[in-house]
Amino acid sequence: MKTALITGGAQRIGAEIAKTLHENQFNVIIHYNESEQEAKSLCDKFNKKRQNSAKRIHANLASINEINHLIESVKNIDLLVNNASVFYPTPLENCSLNDWDNIMNINVRAPFILSKGLSNKLKDTQGCIVNIVDIHAERPLKNYAIYNISKTAIKTLTKTLAKELAPDVRACGVSPGSILWPEQKAKLEPHKKQIMLERIALKKQGSPADIAEAVLFLANANYITGEVINIDGGRSLHQ
Ligand SMILES: NC(=O)c1ccc[n+]([C@@H]2O[C@H](COP(=O)([O-])OP(=O)(O)OC[C@H]3O[C@@H](n4cnc5c(N)ncnc54)[C@H](OP(=O)(O)O)[C@@H]3O)[C@@H](O)[C@H]2O)c1
Repeated sequence: MKTALITGGAQRIGAEIAKTLHENQFNVIIHYNESEQEAKSLCDKFNKKRQNSAKRIHANLASINEINHLIESVKNIDLLVNNASVFYPTPLENCSLNDWDNIMNINVRAPFILSKGLSNKLKDTQGCIVNIVDIHAERPLKNYAIYNISKTAIKTLTKTLAKELAPDVRACGVSPGSILWPEQKAKLEPHKKQIMLERIALKKQGSPADIAEAVLFLANANYITGEVINIDGGRSLHQ
């Protein structure tokens, strides 16, 4: 069995990645911040299917100490999936330095420190890093300046890691288009959802399973490194 750490793995896309990896010969470490209950039930479900095949670790990825603690708790690892992120509007006229620090720390600094801190353990297993990017790394989403910049940075981080850690560790990325509608501060009105769907060549949202399958593919693709794959139903064609 191989071992995968999925950040933000308790719900939504992260949980689907954990499920797909678990079904495909990976033991999983589900990292979570606020979703303790979801992380626990997911682990219970996986451990029922295969004993000792899942565990959960808490860390607020805004905190360096907690990231370091997470790194120390991981004994061996074959695959790191940097999935956790924050997404909310930061219009130029009223975004703050706090927004900058919050988004950049969680979306870029944490994946950087985790990749760096786990690189030796990944070298031991000839492992792989898969970063979850966003198609807006290439074509920015209006009113989301800091998020766009953070995703461009993690895309560059992916290519940088692919160079720095070769030939022992591969690093790849998956760039989702519209998969699950955002919640809370980034929630969309129905008519805005409709406009968004119209711009997708395949005229529908993707599913978390589409992202999870791409992560699994890259995890097993022994001759691919430094690549970031768009999974967006052709949305990039229309922007
Ligand atoms: N949804 C989409 O359609 C879409 C489109 C493009 C790109 N993406 C990318 O795909 C990935 C998953 O998307 P999603 O919509 O499933 O993400 P999400 O629900 O917005 O967030 C994923 C997880 O990030 C974790 N997280 C947030 N702040 C954290 C912190 N301070 N410390 C630790 N963990 C933290 C949360 O864990 P807890 O719940 O445990 O707090 C959350 O469950 C993200 O990288 C996102 O940018 C998604």
